[in-house]
Amino acid sequence: MDKLLIRGGRRLVGEVRISGAKNAALPELCAALLTDEPVVLHNVPRLQDVATMLKLVRNMGVTAERDDNGTVRLDAADLTNPEAPYELVKTMRASVLALGPLVARFGHARVSLPGGCAIGSRPVDQHIKGLTAMGAEIRVEHGYMVAGLQPGLKRLRGARITTDMVTVTGTENFLMAAALAEGETILENAAQEPEIPDLAEMLIKMGAKIEGHGTSRIRIQGVERLHGCEHTVVADRIEAGTFLCAVAAAGGSVLLLGARAEHLDAVTDKLRDAGATVAEVPGGLRIEAAGRLKAQSFRTTEYPGFPTDMQAQFMALNVIAEGTATVAETIFENRFMHVNELLRLGARIQTDGKVAVIEGVPQLSGATVMATDLRASASLVIAGLVAEGETLVDRIYHLDRGYDRMEAKLRALGADIERVPGARA
Ligand code: EPZ
Repeated sequence: MDKLLIRGGRRLVGEVRISGAKNAALPELCAALLTDEPVVLHNVPRLQDVATMLKLVRNMGVTAERDDNGTVRLDAADLTNPEAPYELVKTMRASVLALGPLVARFGHARVSLPGGCAIGSRPVDQHIKGLTAMGAEIRVEHGYMVAGLQPGLKRLRGARITTDMVTVTGTENFLMAAALAEGETILENAAQEPEIPDLAEMLIKMGAKIEGHGTSRIRIQGVERLHGCEHTVVADRIEAGTFLCAVAAAGGSVLLLGARAEHLDAVTDKLRDAGATVAEVPGGLRIEAAGRLKAQSFRTTEYPGFPTDMQAQFMALNVIAEGTATVAETIFENRFMHVNELLRLGARIQTDGKVAVIEGVPQLSGATVMATDLRASASLVIAGLVAEGETLVDRIYHLDRGYDRMEAKLRALGADIERVPGARA
């Protein structure tokens, strides 16, 4: 397994281009399943999860070609196998996003249950609840969701859906299914993360009739069929937030090209309170930071609140900030896996259930640490950038799932970081 070797203490200076958003590209690749016409997606990030999703749709019979400029061309005209097999789904739970489109277009699908992951059990009961309300009949057999239509139905029909909690991929599954359902669908407590409006805009280009996307109430009028389209994936606000935290922690001055300031208010507000200068400039966001920042308490909530996907990265900043901060993780039940690894670097953190108390220390000392999940990996990289001496981050396949060439981008900003190829796993 590959490792990242980081020698801490360098400031970060220069500019970095933010890639397309992983959490927009994944549903948008699935949206291509809704039509028998070609779909072209630009600004698709180079990630392991995207490679997995391409393998998944090709396994269904979809042609999917990616060029070197981040453009993916898909054609689902000859989709003959509406299935998502366990061996692919177990490595990427976002495969559940194939369920809605397949049932909407073909009336049946067989998608493996994703199983849990490091940050929580990650059930998909709300996906099943919403699609059932739309006329799907989903039973669980041998670890698979086997979906068909309820007796008498030729296609999904519109419904009013209120999920037990806000669910991002649940909202995306319902959006895609409702686009081809008969009649009107209302999503009452829809997710508002920016990846949702981005997906909705793509579906509208395909002929879908959607309004209210980006708010908690979305209305969709189903249509008979959807046509192909060309769409550019929105910039990745979590990659941008990760780089903002890295510069805030290490010090420096960096321009984040393509970052959308309006998607990051909760994070940039906290960074300004901590003492960094963050400004929206033509082409993106510029951050400048020097010296020891002030620790910031926060609690993760659904968008537009502080994103759970930024919790680990900001904690790495709090670890070396001045003062004590309290961090509450309200979305996932086990998203403090980075804490034990940060302790190995000399951090002072106490956790009690969903709350962590971080007492800032003036200096970390490098050590070997282990990545456990995607954002925890990013947190350890940030800590390694500021730790004295060498930090070796192991199991960085977690990082490769969701960050597009992170070490190359950090090295271009002046970080002393290199990939150490591991023994073939
Ligand atoms: C999406 O996951 C993101 N993944 C996650 O990003 C992100 O952390 C999460 O939304 C929250 O913002 C993608 O978009 C591919 P949820 P998702 O459904 O949709 C519970 C990353 O690091 N729930 O919004 O799976 C769930 O357990 C990843 O890029 C149910 O109980 O998250 C959680 O507690 C990690 N039943 C809460 O709701 C369901 O059927 C929110 O989950 C669905 C969700």
